[in-house]
Amino acid sequence: MADTALMDKLVSLAKRRGFVFQSSEIYGGVGSVWDYGPLGVELKNNLKERWWRSMVHERDDIEGIDAAILMHSEVWEASGHVSGFTDPLVDCKTCKNRFRSDDARIKGEPGQPDAQCPVCGNKGTLTEPRMFNLMFKTFMGPVEDDASVVYLRPETAQGIYVNYLNVMQAARQKIPFGIAQIGKAFRNEITPGNFTFRTREFEQMEMQFFVKPGDDDRWFDEWRELRMQWHKDLGITPEKLRFHQHAADELAHYAKDGFDIEYQFPFGWQEFEGIHNRTDYDLSRHQECSGKKLGYVDTVNNERYVPYIVETSLGADRLALVAMVDAYREEEISGDKRVVMAFSPQISRINVGVLPLVKEDGMPEFARRIYDDVRLQYPAFYDAGGAIGRRYRRQDEVGTPYGVTVDGQTLDDNTVTVRDRDTLEQDRVGVDQLLAYLAERLGE
Ligand code: GAP
Repeated sequence: MADTALMDKLVSLAKRRGFVFQSSEIYGGVGSVWDYGPLGVELKNNLKERWWRSMVHERDDIEGIDAAILMHSEVWEASGHVSGFTDPLVDCKTCKNRFRSDDARIKGEPGQPDAQCPVCGNKGTLTEPRMFNLMFKTFMGPVEDDASVVYLRPETAQGIYVNYLNVMQAARQKIPFGIAQIGKAFRNEITPGNFTFRTREFEQMEMQFFVKPGDDDRWFDEWRELRMQWHKDLGITPEKLRFHQHAADELAHYAKDGFDIEYQFPFGWQEFEGIHNRTDYDLSRHQECSGKKLGYVDTVNNERYVPYIVETSLGADRLALVAMVDAYREEEISGDKRVVMAFSPQISRINVGVLPLVKEDGMPEFARRIYDDVRLQYPAFYDAGGAIGRRYRRQDEVGTPYGVTVDGQTLDDNTVTVRDRDTLEQDRVGVDQLLAYLAERLGE
């Protein structure tokens, strides 16, 4: 059953501590669009950087690009999004709300007299389902006519396909090879919700791997396993991860096979990454519609073919949500309740909090010097405000694994206390040993 209370608590913590804010909040907010605060942007950037490092920097066979959001409108005709990227919707003629026709809250069949609107409760007011395109549409230049229509991209993948020959030639790659990209995508989702899970503006981390037809099944299996392992290595609870293979009626219009990687959210098992075998659908369509040859010439084996594409498509916002949900714990320790974001060291970007306990005797300045040394090595924050109990609570809620306290004893023996967020154990460590102590636990 959906644990809405838990999601409510997470949304409230995310706002209180500066992970995620509702967009345009002072105007009452805008539907399913979110802004990342100081900690949220660090979290998301950390996840994006890790993905980029593992995809692009640690492999010789993948190149990166950053394609524009706005593309020629024919791209979306060729990709099938203009005709096929649609949801069946029904409107209530009384309350004017709009629903997906398969919305579980609708009683009866939309369009029929007994169908009941889930919002106003009226019967017979729901229209027959009509197809609604999910792409945001706008106009390029000063004239608002059909010739100037452009779309906000609903996936980053197409920017890779139309550049595949450019990249291959410029980077002197040969098949098999891949192209990776991180960027914004937009979908006018009709049933958005569950915080940042389904939003209208989001970020994707997509990698398209170009292979010889016939080698696609092998590469598909390989990427499926690599991607699952990547999430486990990130420290996500393995028991909360699973694959879901798409049945024939779930497959996207371009796919021969598809697996989702799902996480067990408080609102159920849901996809956060998709691995798809897109065959030669995209390149063949772009070849047909642009009139440009997009085939690959294998000069060694004297072969010519349109490559197949194995895609890995991960939502940066959904991954950040997985990281937050997975880290959230409510604990009771010796009668005291605490909320802790138990991020793994790979996920937590801010690793050390430095907390001066005493305001006199040059202690804050001393603590500040420690903070300056630590932050050269590890992302850190300095927190001098309020009672120490409250500062520890803040440290727990933002998920900082180690808190360094500069206290009365520091001046006497040049030591500080290091508090472990998870075990709550406190070690006294010589200031000259602090970096080595942290390195042992956080890595160099
Ligand atoms: N290029 C393939 C593609 O876009 P998708 O399954 O539609 O496939 C891939 O999307 C990933 O993008 C999803 O697994 C999810 O993480 C993210 N995503 C898609 N729609 C989203 C939305 N409305 N809000 C947040 N993330 C979304």
